[in-house]
Amino acid sequence: MSIQQKQLNIGLFGFGVVGGGLYKVLQQTPSLNATIKKVCIKHPDKKREAPAELFTTDAALLLQDDSINVIVELTDDADAAFEITRTALSAGKAVVSANKKMIAEHLPELLELQRKHNTPFLYESACCASIPVIRNLEEYYDNDLLQGISGIVNGSTNYILTRIAEDKLSFEEALTQAQIEGFAESNPELDISGADAVNKLSILLAHAYGIVTAPGEIVYNGITNLHVYDSVFAREKGYDIKLVAQAKKLEDGTIAAFVLPQFIQKDSQLYNVKNEYNGVVLESSLADKQFFYGKGAGSFPTASAVLSDLSALRYDYKYEYKKLNSGLRNTLGNDFYLRVYVSFEGLFQVPHERFERIEEWSSNDKRCYVIGVVRFSRLRESDWWKKKNTSLIVLPDAFTEIVPFAEKVTAEALAAF
Ligand SMILES: NC(=O)c1ccc[n+]([C@@H]2O[C@H](COP(=O)([O-])OP(=O)(O)OC[C@H]3O[C@@H](n4cnc5c(N)ncnc54)[C@H](OP(=O)(O)O)[C@@H]3O)[C@@H](O)[C@H]2O)c1
Repeated sequence: MSIQQKQLNIGLFGFGVVGGGLYKVLQQTPSLNATIKKVCIKHPDKKREAPAELFTTDAALLLQDDSINVIVELTDDADAAFEITRTALSAGKAVVSANKKMIAEHLPELLELQRKHNTPFLYESACCASIPVIRNLEEYYDNDLLQGISGIVNGSTNYILTRIAEDKLSFEEALTQAQIEGFAESNPELDISGADAVNKLSILLAHAYGIVTAPGEIVYNGITNLHVYDSVFAREKGYDIKLVAQAKKLEDGTIAAFVLPQFIQKDSQLYNVKNEYNGVVLESSLADKQFFYGKGAGSFPTASAVLSDLSALRYDYKYEYKKLNSGLRNTLGNDFYLRVYVSFEGLFQVPHERFERIEEWSSNDKRCYVIGVVRFSRLRESDWWKKKNTSLIVLPDAFTEIVPFAEKVTAEALAAF
């Protein structure tokens, strides 16, 4: 049944940072004609800034209420979120969610549920909070001209990296600062390991290229291994280090995708994306680059994207997954080369045989680094580059051609250095 002319009767799950924000935002937007009928939370004894009769811990009161036509899922529990979403979509209720972990991990089932029950499932806030990137990929980039996406999609890690670069803090100090300022959770693992960014990239891949892939299939690393010496190197070269989620169409038509720390040059749009902000550069073969910038977290910025999804539901908007349904069969590519910088504790640790070509190396009593070309498929095969005390950072213009063996630096040359 269309909900076009109807009032949106909302069953809200979660009343934390985003859910609480949405409650306040809805009170300021009466034109939306949306009412929160019931809120399901986990801990009934918490003090809430809303009437007590609104709250329940009984999910069924929302999911089995026929007068509720929209479920807004804003919990922090990916397993519970999937159950809520599955039940709601199966009951013909539209669902709006911000839970990137749940969406990335269950995308095939969620696609099937939408198809089977013909119910909308919107999640603009899941990728870059306030930045409307999903709907742009769906609608504006409804063609095969999209050449690439480069995004800073995790505000916590960006805040930490900004503090390291600007205040010369250590990683641990910057993380503590992020927690004090509320930009990192008390358990920051999902953010700093890169897992949150890879969840977002896997959602973006579905809308940008029609590729449905488990986040675990995407090569990624976070920022925990970065060494203070890496920021010294970056400063000397005029770079900034950012954690970037990237997808790029390769010459053979496959799509390269990874989340890795990258050196960003001053002339990149991403260079000035600092602190908790997010930024996404979309590159199209005709329009060149377009840059989206905005708050990637926070109560009102995230609630504003949820609000926009609710608004879209009034005119029955659904993601059509146009690239997925277009018949194009895009796949992830593995067969390409990347120029990278890798720093180690000592030169003896450098696995020179892992590089196709070594272009530069340097060492002092504290740290050494190597700049060279690695074959991407080999990063998948072995995690030497993720080991403690090793940091791999992608260089600007990293995609490079196959190199002749003769240019490879030998073990002897490296040892003699
Ligand atoms: N915070 C951001 O800036 C941001 C940005 C983008 C996306 N997101 C996503 O938005 C979602 C919510 O994040 P948040 O920051 O608002 O989290 P939060 O502040 O930790 O709030 C989580 C809420 O979920 C409730 N909850 C947990 N398990 C539940 C269950 N089984 N049934 C019903 N309610 C349950 C909690 O109840 P109690 O209040 O009773 O504990 C709490 O109200 C997450 O998926 C997050 O990844 C957040």
